Amino acid sequence: MSQSKFWKNSTVYQIYPRSFCDSNGDGVGDIPGIISKLDYLKSLGVDVIWLSPVYKSPNDDNGYDISDYKDIHEEFGTMADFDELLAEAKARGIKIIMDLVINHTSDEHEWFERAKAGEEKYKNYYIIKKGKNGKLPNNWGNFFADCPWEPFGDPKNEEYYLHLFSKKQPDLNWYNPEVYREICDIMRFWLDKGVAGFRCDVINVIFKESFADGKKQLALTGKEHYVSTDGCHRILASLRRDVMDNYDAFTVGETVLVNVPMARDLTDVERDELDMVFAFEHMECDQIGVKWFKTKFKPKRLMKCLTKWQTGLDWNTCYFENHDQPRSVTRFTEGGEFRKVGSKMLIGLNFSLRGTPFFYQGQEIGMTNGAFNSLDEIMDIESHNVDKMAKSLGIIQPFRWNLINKTSRDNARTPMQWSAAEGAGFTSGTPWLKIHPNFTEVNVENDLADKDGIIAFFKRMNEFKKSSDVLTCGSFKSLHEGRSVYAFEREYEGEKLIAICNFSTKRAAFPDGIIGERIISNYYGEDKKLRPYEFVLIKPEETKK
Ligand code: GLC
Ligand code: CA
Repeated sequence: MSQSKFWKNSTVYQIYPRSFCDSNGDGVGDIPGIISKLDYLKSLGVDVIWLSPVYKSPNDDNGYDISDYKDIHEEFGTMADFDELLAEAKARGIKIIMDLVINHTSDEHEWFERAKAGEEKYKNYYIIKKGKNGKLPNNWGNFFADCPWEPFGDPKNEEYYLHLFSKKQPDLNWYNPEVYREICDIMRFWLDKGVAGFRCDVINVIFKESFADGKKQLALTGKEHYVSTDGCHRILASLRRDVMDNYDAFTVGETVLVNVPMARDLTDVERDELDMVFAFEHMECDQIGVKWFKTKFKPKRLMKCLTKWQTGLDWNTCYFENHDQPRSVTRFTEGGEFRKVGSKMLIGLNFSLRGTPFFYQGQEIGMTNGAFNSLDEIMDIESHNVDKMAKSLGIIQPFRWNLINKTSRDNARTPMQWSAAEGAGFTSGTPWLKIHPNFTEVNVENDLADKDGIIAFFKRMNEFKKSSDVLTCGSFKSLHEGRSVYAFEREYEGEKLIAICNFSTKRAAFPDGIIGERIISNYYGEDKKLRPYEFVLIKPEETKK
């Protein structure tokens, strides 16, 4: 038996187009580059590609600032290239989902330009508020360490527009039914072309319930007024009814700051809003308060969090990486000599949890955090804003750099490492972002040539998961959450599998009472103990208690 919804049986691979493959030597990845790698993705067993934005954009936030939702960014190619990508993917049985960014547009979108030119109709597409006695409309914070209000039009009018992200990303006004209609139309445009759904960018903050001052906090003051509001639920249910229900497609919402009950509501089958959500709690297990303050990674925190979500939500998205997070092997393992085995462990774990597994480009070869020497080498707008903010707080440069170097989103955005050739097989030109110097060793060609490569393990796990009702449909039960060892059981119709991970460079004891046949591991042979970063799937022998 497999799950009846196709996205429950799918392995999803995220492409960050700018950094994936450059076909014309301008240093920027593009759609023809992606087409040239479809056979590779097919060979990995990828079912669905999530494409980060390829729409027309001035690129302030690498495409998450859209100036035309129905056109392709010229650096990435043309609409004809996109149509070809869709057709070539389809020919290989691969579906594509688009990134749908509808909390905000670019300030260079025609709607915002017409709003600035004074057209009332378009002013009402955005959130424009009056300042109060020379002060900003409210005390809210901003996701990119900036002020979320920017003067709109003539300063005499004391008007400001809201932008929860960069100032080139004005928030849309979801109180306006015309905005709703425009977005429905955009969604249909892509679904009619044959895309299989959407990853919905910061979807749970689109509806601001009130614009009152927020309770003061370290970051994101005001969030209680816009995170997963009733209005947001209403919009999602309507989008489902008016648009999504007419297609065999799915949505996965990027939902910031959600807890388990909120995620349950957003994915509740009865409420019929989103199919899945990306939650972030497990991405926060190595930070204090805000994401820029990393602390030493304690595996137990991660285990507890995974268990909480696995048991709290019926169907999760399982992921350890995306284009906004540092690389998982750097974050959750010691890397170095353990890079390969550690990458495999995280991949094994991701395939063994209950839910749809998502992988990010380069994860299948164990790409590591970027090797940047200074802020000059970093392009991410968020990192630059954080530096400015930290500077204004009097934090000294070496300390600022240390924070940014560890947390910058560019860590995951360095160009894909295809080979040891100059330009890493990514480009024949000058890459838009510095290639990690370890590309001579860490690259697809090398890994494929290695029968014990990470890709080989990825494929084995992927094939096994698809053939196993226990892994695709089974229930989840945590068995052990230790200092370094995590063990959990999956069960389906009486059949069981136990996954065990050792998050340590040291050998560790098997949790008590777990014995059985080894099905898949990132090590050869038997051993009385778990080896460093060992991952093993065990078919348990039923033992008497
Ligand atoms: C999401 C995207 C991120 C982007 C932000 C604003 O978090 O993943 O890359 O900067 O939304 O659109
Ligand atoms: Ca290019």
